[in-house]
Amino acid sequence: MGNAKKYVVGNWKSNKNSGEVEIWFKQFASLFQESKNKFNNLEIVVCPPFIYLPLAKKLLENYHLPIKIGAQDVSPFPNGAYTGAVSASQISQFAKYVIIGHSERRSNFHEDDKQLSEKVKRAKEQNLGVIFCIQDENTSAPQDVQIIAYEPVWAIGTGKTDTPENADKVAAIVKEKYPDTVLLYGGSVSSENVQSFLNTSHIDGVLPGGASLDPQKFWEIVVNASKI
Ligand code: PGA
Repeated sequence: MGNAKKYVVGNWKSNKNSGEVEIWFKQFASLFQESKNKFNNLEIVVCPPFIYLPLAKKLLENYHLPIKIGAQDVSPFPNGAYTGAVSASQISQFAKYVIIGHSERRSNFHEDDKQLSEKVKRAKEQNLGVIFCIQDENTSAPQDVQIIAYEPVWAIGTGKTDTPENADKVAAIVKEKYPDTVLLYGGSVSSENVQSFLNTSHIDGVLPGGASLDPQKFWEIVVNASKI
């Protein structure tokens, strides 16, 4: 990737209430303002639950934060009679990215390859940047996704990470199968280990979950990532 931007994508999962969202942005903004760094070498993305996408967009505009909003999922259908679903066109009013195929969606909501490829189609129709999650090098991904996140299930929320060497090996295999994709690593990413992943040859970014919930911890990941 040479001098291409590194990605830091925070996945809040199904956490926080509206007051906590406000506090997160307030604290993150004050850390940003204290620092002289504009982090021009990073693409920083935060993915709140659907219901807080408008609030998150409003807060990042109010605080002039140079970060993007992502959604954690998208309906496989367009707008219409699909009760409970949130469409790509609705998401695109507030977010630039969408995570598709997270292992928690696959296991808890029984999402399969066919449904995931419909989700990718809907997202791309609305020009959302797709962050497609795979669990290992054998998980298939639609050919036209821009960003693939390698997240071994056993490393998610456990405090156990893959080794940077193995993650880099998986990243190399995936990039051979899907050329020109940006490759993220996820699974217990922290400020202590982020550099070890970004220092590899094939990993272009990270997808922290738990550590992104705390603005201070997410900030430290951003700062350490920016030093690579
Ligand atoms: P974790 O989650 O950082 O809490 O392991 C990562 C993810 O599931 O995206």
